[in-house]
Amino acid sequence: MENIKRVTFASKIGVIAAAAGSAVGLGNIWRFPSQAADGGGAIFIFVYIACILFFGIPVMMSEFIIGRSARANTAGAFHKLAPGTPWKWIGRLGVLTGFIIMGFYMVVAGWTLIYFFQSVTGNLHSVTNFSSHFNSILNNPLQQTIWMIVFTLLTAFFIISGVRKGIEQSAKIFMPLLFLLLIILAVRSATLEGAVNGLNFLFKPNLEHVKQTVFLDAMGQAFFSLSIGMGCLITYGSYFNNSVNLTKTAVQVSTLDSLVAILSGIIIFPAAFALTSNPDTIVDELVTGGPGLLFITLPELFNQMPASMAWSSMFFCLLALAALTSTISLMEVVTLYLYEEYKISRKKSTLLVTIGVIILGIISSYSSGFFNFLDMASAKYMLPVGGLFISIFVGWYLNQQLVTAQITNEGRLKFSILFLKFYIFLLRYIAPIAILSIFIYGLAS
Ligand code: PFF
Repeated sequence: MENIKRVTFASKIGVIAAAAGSAVGLGNIWRFPSQAADGGGAIFIFVYIACILFFGIPVMMSEFIIGRSARANTAGAFHKLAPGTPWKWIGRLGVLTGFIIMGFYMVVAGWTLIYFFQSVTGNLHSVTNFSSHFNSILNNPLQQTIWMIVFTLLTAFFIISGVRKGIEQSAKIFMPLLFLLLIILAVRSATLEGAVNGLNFLFKPNLEHVKQTVFLDAMGQAFFSLSIGMGCLITYGSYFNNSVNLTKTAVQVSTLDSLVAILSGIIIFPAAFALTSNPDTIVDELVTGGPGLLFITLPELFNQMPASMAWSSMFFCLLALAALTSTISLMEVVTLYLYEEYKISRKKSTLLVTIGVIILGIISSYSSGFFNFLDMASAKYMLPVGGLFISIFVGWYLNQQLVTAQITNEGRLKFSILFLKFYIFLLRYIAPIAILSIFIYGLAS
């Protein structure tokens, strides 16, 4: 029955737009700079890129393979491919992770709306101290709750109307616009006087600021940013038609996603160094800055530009849209699970998820400890554990002929044997060993 209703994305570009729409979001623009600052800049970035190459892309391909061959929600896919085994618990863990991520992500998405409206009304323009401005928002949980609810309802609206086409269409327009705006801002930021210190911080390894947890942090960030490890891309992969080239899509999405993250770094760090009034303590401020970096440094950068409110309105609007394409993908995971596994109607499933997310979101708005707990638990622990098992599932459990058939589209795509062997090698050995060792090392330090 599920298969009759199952739709696929309309076009190849729609596939990229949807998958990249899920990957590119607050994780790249808000979370990446603060994680990189906390992890000492350049070293974090090197480890992050290695994570993308060695297990980010393989795990993403694996999720596509599971999703497209099972054509089911995350838990249902494991159930179909490995009936009667405990593998379905990995799918269920993914659904739970999606739920937990939404519990804090919606709060940050709410901040983007607050900043958007303050930009449009000109209120942000009159702020003189952006750090205390952001703190005043953090100290106003009611305001955060209201905007978090608005954002959750907006996401639910898209999920209920099932406007996959609408999502595809808007992602195709807004993603390139966001990218363009990021490039403009990066150029502006990197040409400010004193910007070079920020670029050095970002690209020159400085062993003084390396933390022992840098591997675990960078791995968590890679998983979070690529939307992998919880079956989000299993769900999206289940909507891919049979002609989508899974390898190419994984490489394109990961490249786009990493570019956006690096661009955000090129915007935030030069601006932070160039615009600070305390150059001596800026590194410490960055390292201990916490989640506010984007919301403090960027408005400062806008204020240095002509027509600042137009730039900042446009930026926060596009940022909210980037967040929206990610929250849609997160909510889709949980909703489709309820819909397919428990036969609860799509509307009711969405309603249930929305209520649950709002409850978590309210607690996160009122308690920064809870907010940080959800963030850390999901990115550093739940996603890597999910990713570990996904790579073992595809590398060791699944029939290798099925894996090859998915990668080559039943032999229609020509890949060299060497490539296929290399991919399976990454998946069987490198990815699980790397994830496991980082995990154990991270827990021990
Ligand atoms: N990748 C998204 C971001 O970087 O903002 C967040 C995310 C979306 C994580 C979907 C996980 C997921 F399944």
